[in-house]
Amino acid sequence: MSIPVTIAILAAGEGARLKSRRPKVLHEVAGDSLLGHVIRTAAALAPRQVVAIVGHEADAVREAFVARWATLNPRLQPLVVAQAERRGTAHALRMTEAVLQGATGTLLTLSGDAPLLRAETLRRLLATHVETGAAATALSATMATPTGYGRILRGADGGFDRIVEERDATPAEKAVTEINAGVYAFQLEGLFEVLARISNDNAQGEYYLPDALALLRAAGRPVQIVHHPDAEEARGVNTRAELAAVAEAFRRRKVAELMAAGVTFLDPATAYVEADARIGMDTVVYPNVHIEGQTIIGENCRIHTGARLVNARLGDDVTVRDYSLVFDSRLDDRTSVGPFAHLRLNAHLHEAAAVGNFVEVKQSSLGAGAKAMHLSYLGDAALGERVNIGAGTITCNYDGKQKHRTIIEDGAKIGSDTMLVAPVRVGEGAMTGAGAVVTEDVPPNALVAGVPAKVKKTLT
Ligand code: UD1
Ligand code: CA
Repeated sequence: MSIPVTIAILAAGEGARLKSRRPKVLHEVAGDSLLGHVIRTAAALAPRQVVAIVGHEADAVREAFVARWATLNPRLQPLVVAQAERRGTAHALRMTEAVLQGATGTLLTLSGDAPLLRAETLRRLLATHVETGAAATALSATMATPTGYGRILRGADGGFDRIVEERDATPAEKAVTEINAGVYAFQLEGLFEVLARISNDNAQGEYYLPDALALLRAAGRPVQIVHHPDAEEARGVNTRAELAAVAEAFRRRKVAELMAAGVTFLDPATAYVEADARIGMDTVVYPNVHIEGQTIIGENCRIHTGARLVNARLGDDVTVRDYSLVFDSRLDDRTSVGPFAHLRLNAHLHEAAAVGNFVEVKQSSLGAGAKAMHLSYLGDAALGERVNIGAGTITCNYDGKQKHRTIIEDGAKIGSDTMLVAPVRVGEGAMTGAGAVVTEDVPPNALVAGVPAKVKKTLT
């Protein structure tokens, strides 16, 4: 079911309680900004128009909003309006009057600082709003500790009366555990007239958007409250502690989804999996693993303790051993890395290739079955199939001015501690001796060997 809706996202606030130089809505959790998560949800509702209200650090927020929206729905040109002075949430929404002039139907207002709300929850809010013909519908939830939220006050008959902000609430009102989630569906017809009538006669001297509901009700227009059973979704971020709580909620949500899809987590509480990551069935994730960005992991992999994968692409049956870092790199089926390996900038391990302890691989490929198991640096190198790299081998890829490539053809064996001074090519089946300094190309099947140490004198 889809309901034609216009969406307004309130994002002008400074977020003073975060004590940050960065605007609140651009703080990140679970791989996206707070605003980014809200935009995802908004886009999932396929609105006919979307408008953001920006103010504090307006340029940065505007730019982030427009860019993020374009990644999700490039066909809808989003609108942005400025709120020059932050005079409250109702004042913020009034800023959209000029661009929404003449618009009819339903307006859904979202807060840029409440990223956990699900699209299906908002659909339910919209459905009730439309079915009941309400002038306004707010989402509520019950929180054992409602501190900081507006409280829903109901009359003797249980019907909606008004919303009171924490700072204006009497002790009895503060004891109410039904909170205002801060998202509303409004009938656009007549909305801006009501917003214009809201006063700022309250503890914060601000124009409160929740007051619109009381004014509508007083004018005899129907107002609905949709109570949502999952209070966690209503969480807003005003403080660093709430930022951490929201990040944890995202993490739990993502890990729960993955477990439901057949992924094992040895310790779900310490699995840091960002929103866009994908993991295949029967993969096992050990404690304290970070899986970030656009990482895709195949089936039956093992990701051991302390690993961090960022924009990594793993096939099936891949093993990432403890404390390995994989950035922007590809690990094909049956490969293994680590412990303590570092792969970055388009490293690519083809099938069954392996890198071991303290090996760094940068912008290099290892052919099928190739191995570099100990203490090596492979930079700007292309290794063929079944190449073996001895311990301590270094590709000397930088001459002080430029980077150069090293090519090692199929089946070559590089002795321990070889220096490959690039540009250089080691031919198919060739071998280098321990400690060789290779400055010229090695022909196929040749053996090159360095200068062996000789006894110079006796030390006693
Ligand atoms: C608001 C609600 C409160 C609700 C809570 C849910 C009001 C007065 N109170 O409180 O009832 O329980 O959300 O999280 O609305 N903003 C602007 N311009 C402004 C002020 C705020 O754009 O002048 C934006 C902020 O960037 C933010 C959103 O509006 O995204 C909410 O503002 P915030 O100050 O966080 O409101 P709360 O005190 O959390
Ligand atoms: Ca808030």
